[in-house]
Amino acid sequence: MIRMKFELAAGLLVVLTASGQGFKPEIPKVWDEEAVERFELPLAQRDRSPKHMSSSEYYALKVRPIYKTYPMYEAGKEPAGYLDWLKQQEPEVVFDPAKLKTKEDWIAAGKLVFEHEPLVFPLPMNGVFFKTPLPASKEGVLPDFIPGNRYIIRKKGVLEVGINSCSGCHTRVMPDGSYLAGAQGVVDFRNDEATIERVKNIKPEVLARRRESAWVLFGAPWVESKEQFFERLSKEELVRQVAASHSGVIARQGTSGSHPPHIPSLIGVKNHKYLDSTGFGRHRSIGDLARYAVTNQGLDTMAHYGDFQPSVNETPFSSEKGTRYSDEQLYALALYIYSLEPPKNPNPVDDLAKRGQKVFSRQGCAGCHTPPLYTNNKLTPAKGFTVPADLRKTDEILDVSVGTDTTLALKARRGTGFYKVPSLRGVWYRNAFGHGGWVDTLEEWFDPERVKSDYVPKGYWMQPGPVEGHEFGLKLSPEDRKALIAFLKTL
Ligand code: HEC
Ligand code: HEC
Repeated sequence: MIRMKFELAAGLLVVLTASGQGFKPEIPKVWDEEAVERFELPLAQRDRSPKHMSSSEYYALKVRPIYKTYPMYEAGKEPAGYLDWLKQQEPEVVFDPAKLKTKEDWIAAGKLVFEHEPLVFPLPMNGVFFKTPLPASKEGVLPDFIPGNRYIIRKKGVLEVGINSCSGCHTRVMPDGSYLAGAQGVVDFRNDEATIERVKNIKPEVLARRRESAWVLFGAPWVESKEQFFERLSKEELVRQVAASHSGVIARQGTSGSHPPHIPSLIGVKNHKYLDSTGFGRHRSIGDLARYAVTNQGLDTMAHYGDFQPSVNETPFSSEKGTRYSDEQLYALALYIYSLEPPKNPNPVDDLAKRGQKVFSRQGCAGCHTPPLYTNNKLTPAKGFTVPADLRKTDEILDVSVGTDTTLALKARRGTGFYKVPSLRGVWYRNAFGHGGWVDTLEEWFDPERVKSDYVPKGYWMQPGPVEGHEFGLKLSPEDRKALIAFLKTL
């Protein structure tokens, strides 16, 4: 009897401990048709809103395993026999939901998904896609978030490298040299003289191929026909685009090669109601963030936009054709993104910043950039766009337009007719402001000269011309402007 009591108590203890540590993952069904249907805002051209593949088609795709990766060294720095040793390694799948017990386990596994390179190439590929001035570590290890800087082993004896991980675009190098996952990416997308020169001498057949792939990425026949698109993408325009590309900005598919968006910071995204500068993705739940990852890793190019399907059969963003993430991988990825914290802000809340806060209030900035998130989480119509009445019932929409460039909202495949009000939190560790990343600093964003017709942007943007719109805070005295910027940098 005593013994039984003891066993009972012990059992109870086990139950209590388990529930103390126990984390019950609530894994959403990512490709639930009803949820997918509601997830995206309709396009400005309503009848072209994307229709994605059905749930049964989606779940028939094979799950892409996430393999262990290995560091890559600067030439000559690898330990003796490293490559031979790598070639002896068996492929190892590192994402295994059965092993995940605590929330921390799930978050750590989500980091693996974040760093997973879905588009894999045989060696040698390093440095071809992305040039970076970033130094290797003391041991000579190359920064591994940079595409092409890690070995992937999917098959014993075959070393590969990959691109297109979330981390490749969404990792920032901080002034002290540390890497900040989730922040606006800074892999240096600027192209050097040699690359620009190569494009200047591009062969007609190579140009033809680049036009075809640009059409898959950016084509929107309701905006311009394929012929018009090809004509516009002349060799001169391609040279301009290549030369104008810069840190913090990249033309994701569905946006625009000529008007690419800046890369948003994912730190704090948990509290944001709309994803993308055009607010294309509604963010109502963790499932929506997962849906965003799915569509943006290529599934959107297989959607039907009316009678237009940019890419048939396979996503062009994965080497393992006909594959997808598992719902567990996506859940882990989203948990990881939600867990990202901002770095400690080094900027003091001093008298100047306090004065700036008053300027912020006086200027009415808080009406849109409402504390504590410094966004009201609303959409603003692009210049000239009439807000459809039904969206006023389902979405948060302001009547005023801020008057910025309309290309992404009205003339791109993800064009919803809107721009969202971005959060100003963390502007101190961002660059490339405005949804197109037109100016590189806050000083330039609040420079009244920028809206003048003969303005030449100071950053990298290659074309002279005004940076239009969002004229808030442009009429300040130099002291107030300085104070406002000091305040913004404390957020
Ligand atoms: C090639 C670079 C690139 C890669 C790879 C990439 N992103 Fe992005 N991401 C962008 C750009 C550019 C935008 C902004 C698009 C826009 O505004 O239209 C963006 C936007 C987002 C947003 C919307 C955030 C907001 O506040 O609007 C989320 C969330 C996101 N990415 C998550 C991911 C995840 C998760 C992955 C990996 C599965 C990923 N991204 C891979 C470049 C990239
Ligand atoms: C009517 C709403 C509204 C008001 C008022 C407003 N903003 Fe904005 N703000 C926006 C929108 C919308 C954008 C994005 C515009 C775009 O990129 O097309 C933006 C962008 C910005 C950006 C660039 C952020 C980034 O990530 O690129 C900064 C900085 C900014 N606002 C600061 C301010 C300040 C300071 C004030 C007051 C002087 C102010 N805003 C007033 C709506 C507003």
